[in-house]
Amino acid sequence: MNICTNRQEMLALSAGWTKDGQTICLVPTMGNLHDGHLSLVEVAAKTGSRVITSIYVNPLQFAPSEDFDSYPRTTQDDLDKLDATGLCDAVFMPQTMYEDGHATAIKPGGVAEGLESAARPHFFEGVATVVYQLLVQTGADKAVFGEKDFQQLKVIEQMVRDLHMGVEIIAAPTMREPDGVAMSSRNGYLNAAQRACAPALYQALQEAAEALRDGTETQTALTAARQAVLAAGFDTVDYIELCDAASLARHEGLNGPDDGTAAVLLAAAHIGAVRLIDNLRV
Ligand code: PAF
Repeated sequence: MNICTNRQEMLALSAGWTKDGQTICLVPTMGNLHDGHLSLVEVAAKTGSRVITSIYVNPLQFAPSEDFDSYPRTTQDDLDKLDATGLCDAVFMPQTMYEDGHATAIKPGGVAEGLESAARPHFFEGVATVVYQLLVQTGADKAVFGEKDFQQLKVIEQMVRDLHMGVEIIAAPTMREPDGVAMSSRNGYLNAAQRACAPALYQALQEAAEALRDGTETQTALTAARQAVLAAGFDTVDYIELCDAASLARHEGLNGPDDGTAAVLLAAAHIGAVRLIDNLRV
């Protein structure tokens, strides 16, 4: 497994692969890898491409009040896990991403509006800017993103389309713990009591999906889901919404005439200082 710590090394390696007629698939991460990340590497390997995993904790996507400084940096453990998969051809761990004087950002609109952006207005600009740079610096033909971060996946699909980047974005299913909690680096911040409440978020989404399918009015089902999450011990709910799975516009519900658009339930809620997100296609 090659380890590249700067973009020159990375591009030299990937240019060689491209010259040999191989395609390159990137798995962007911020490290602190868990089985959810490793499943993205498996999806990347199944494309038959050379697989590059990037590890970079991107300061642009953290607000000053957020956990950039304390975000777990577990480099050796991450490298061991990637090596053990036998599926990762290179790890890109750039020491520098933004040179002095860097003053260019990608500002996504459309699917980036609302939901996560209401609580984290800086977030998608930071994500889009770093993902653009990672795609350019690795020469990737394809990239894998988890459906766990559903709005992020949509923002990246939109960016690649709008900027004609010619990169194929592959969506990978959410990996869950046995009790249903979506795998996330931030689960590590939960204490035992908080961790015991965490399954309630996905359970509420499952119940809401079932209620919607049974004909419950959309707002009634969403209100019940918010109440269930709070009753289970979450402190606040940022949102639980039913959205169109392509545009992320509010979905009218499943009761009207079938307009052929798929719907997705999207949720974000806090337990103490920990913010968890999840989603479920309906
Ligand atoms: O999902 C993440 O881990 C990050 O947002 C990403 C895509 C690696 C960009 O920093």
